[in-house]
Amino acid sequence: MKPTVLLLSAFLLCLAAVTSEAASPVLPKGYTTWKKSVRKVVTDKNSLFYGIHYIYADKKAEKGYLAGNRFDEGSRIVVESFAIKGNPAVDGPKNMIVLMKKDKRERATGGWLFAGFGVDGKPSGLDPVTTCFSCHLKDAAQRDFVISTKKDFKF
Ligand code: HEC
Repeated sequence: MKPTVLLLSAFLLCLAAVTSEAASPVLPKGYTTWKKSVRKVVTDKNSLFYGIHYIYADKKAEKGYLAGNRFDEGSRIVVESFAIKGNPAVDGPKNMIVLMKKDKRERATGGWLFAGFGVDGKPSGLDPVTTCFSCHLKDAAQRDFVISTKKDFKF
């Protein structure tokens, strides 16, 4: 193949990768090795996070928490949620995973990509603007739309 053809195909491949990420967000691999929050139990049945959850922050997001919730482009935060089993509450089956990734192209949602996933890692199709962002906007407009803070982690 001629170099120009090679370059063009490389460019098209990149383009395809970018477009498909925008169309259906992907759960980052290996997030369970990131900085993990303390165990959080929510007993309010009206809460989206009713159950037990853990927050995972990648290196950039760790810095963002330490800076008082000011996050750099590319920061990623994942929450794994589990059902409550019994009393006292122990972790039941995993039931939901959510992701926020700082991405300045996502202007409708405060410069963050919001995505929800089922336990199989497939997108759950919840609407990022009306479902996710409206709640984060209400609770954390002054904190870069991230509701948890560094006190949720042991630094
Ligand atoms: C009804 C309100 C509400 C909705 C809707 C909501 N969240 Fe949240 N979200 C919260 C709260 C409250 C926390 C903080 C949990 C904690 O402090 O442990 C949170 C935390 C998070 C976090 C960890 C970072 C942070 O902000 O603390 C991510 C990631 C996240 N949510 C993603 C999503 C996604 C994706 C959706 C849509 C599919 C969504 N959320 C919908 C209330 C909401």
